[in-house]
Amino acid sequence: MKKRRSAVYPGSFDPITNGHVDIIRRAGILFDEVIIAVIVKPSKKTFFRTPERISLIKNSLREFDLEKVKVVSFSGLLVNYMKEAGSEIIIRGLRAVSDFDYEFQMALMNRKLSGRVETVFLMTDAKFSYLSSSIVREIAGMGGDISALVPGCVARKMRGQIK
Ligand code: COA
Repeated sequence: MKKRRSAVYPGSFDPITNGHVDIIRRAGILFDEVIIAVIVKPSKKTFFRTPERISLIKNSLREFDLEKVKVVSFSGLLVNYMKEAGSEIIIRGLRAVSDFDYEFQMALMNRKLSGRVETVFLMTDAKFSYLSSSIVREIAGMGGDISALVPGCVARKMRGQIK
């Protein structure tokens, strides 16, 4: 029987944006299963709590009809979670050259920590290259329109929270 190939897409997702959805959709074409791993850092103040970030991701996937995707949270080292998940592939999106240094360092460090892990980079769609979760939080916080930047459920939740 053919081995199922799963990949882990880790991040803060505070909140998930249309740029993330685009990466998830394309990873779903390449892999049998995509595990979205939401990092829990007790020391970091986030806009949405972990259960809210997870539920927004799940609702967004439903909106976009994305299959083969699982959403989990993790804490500690990513390579330890990879082992637990039984996956050896990390998915990361690259938006611009400015992402490269940080991503390069992370990919090499993860490989040093676990020789089995490989990072696969997907170039974001050009229309999302300027997008980030903090930009979305800033625009929403100042009453701007984020409806073209995030899934509908995220836009509604942020509008409700900021009012
Ligand atoms: N579309 C839109 N935005 C995107 C994006 C895309 N395709 N890809 C990245 N981003 C944005 C995010 O929105 C986020 O924006 P913000 O900083 O404005 O909030 C930013 O890029 C980076 O976010 P993210 O992808 O969530 O990465 P991160 O730096 O928050 O988290 C982890 C990276 C979780 C993978 C990393 O910290 C980790 O592995 N931690 C575990 C501990 C560990 O193993 N450390 C050693 C690693 S070598």
